[in-house]
Amino acid sequence: MIERVVRGEVPRKHHLAFRDAGGNLLYEEAFTRQGFDGPYTLAYHRHRPHAHHAAEARHGWPLPGPAPRRALARRHYRTQDLAPRAGPAVDARTPLLFNDDVVIGLVQPAAPDPVYLSNGDGDDLFFVFEGGGLLRTPLGDLRFGKDDYVLVPKGLLHRFLPDPGPQRWLSIECLGGLWLPSQWRNEAGQLRMDAPFCHRDFRLPAFAGPQDEGIRDLVVKRAGAFHGYRSDAPPLDVVGWDGAVYPFAFPILAFQPRVGPVHLPPTWHGTFAARGALVCSFVPRPLDFHPEAVPCPYPHASVDVDEAIFYARGEFTSRRGVGPGSISHHPAGILHGPHPGAYEASIGQKATSELAVMLDCHLPLAPTPAALSVEDAGYEESFAG
Ligand SMILES: [Fe+2]
Repeated sequence: MIERVVRGEVPRKHHLAFRDAGGNLLYEEAFTRQGFDGPYTLAYHRHRPHAHHAAEARHGWPLPGPAPRRALARRHYRTQDLAPRAGPAVDARTPLLFNDDVVIGLVQPAAPDPVYLSNGDGDDLFFVFEGGGLLRTPLGDLRFGKDDYVLVPKGLLHRFLPDPGPQRWLSIECLGGLWLPSQWRNEAGQLRMDAPFCHRDFRLPAFAGPQDEGIRDLVVKRAGAFHGYRSDAPPLDVVGWDGAVYPFAFPILAFQPRVGPVHLPPTWHGTFAARGALVCSFVPRPLDFHPEAVPCPYPHASVDVDEAIFYARGEFTSRRGVGPGSISHHPAGILHGPHPGAYEASIGQKATSELAVMLDCHLPLAPTPAALSVEDAGYEESFAG
């Protein structure tokens, strides 16, 4: 949902009869959001895209259960210690922290998806901090790699073909949608001159027309369950499409950080907005340049949000014991801040190499059993010194 684009063959006006060179009628699919009020894409299929049969759902990942009651505390989960779930992306996701707006997890796929997946529950945002591959959709193929965000819109049929080698992707399932923060757009919908990214930073799928991979099985995630279907025709039979709903990739290092004489709040790093959450990108950057600046974040209580930070790499000046793959969870209600000594040591530092993705979430986040299995038990006490 960056801008409206057209790929392949489309009729001169929407909803007109549209035929291929052989005179066969094509079938228009309207892929709409917010009922029919929001962004949409019209795709033109060779076959009736809604013709399928109910089948057994043989794929899917474990879904979060009821939130456990726990003491209010600052938490640290080491996803680097998480045993990978074997198999393709459709099976290899491990939810870790969740509320009614977002589910944060880790995906470690080791094989191409043997089925198409459509997530009817939300937009899926991935941050690829190791690996890469191809996202295949009816709207085209999207290649992605290390340090890319990848967005798969809610309800879009797709499958992942990971490259050989280790894969670790942070997943953020946004149950109320995901979009670019409105403050980065002008009244024409363009990204503003002073936005932290520009249109050309976003990579769209390469569309090459219909293809038949021989796959007919579709898994739909909806209402917290996986449902199976089987189609008679190849689902990737689109000859052209026109619209503003499509997958994209955005390299996190294309995000333009802001720096001031003194510490700027995380909202300056806002990259994506979701219902009940803001996704921020912390990328390598010079630090605050006032001669008396304290570059390390001040102790703070953002009293309305739970904060989750995923640490990808680099030096994390405020925090001891976290490393690439760590997720810290600092809940609303209690203060958090630098570890002992970090605040003082940051004075005079000129730059940071940290690469991290942060979520500020309005609703409390709860851990899954998988998160609890890799929790750093000493984290809460580590703030006291
Ligand atoms: Fe914080």
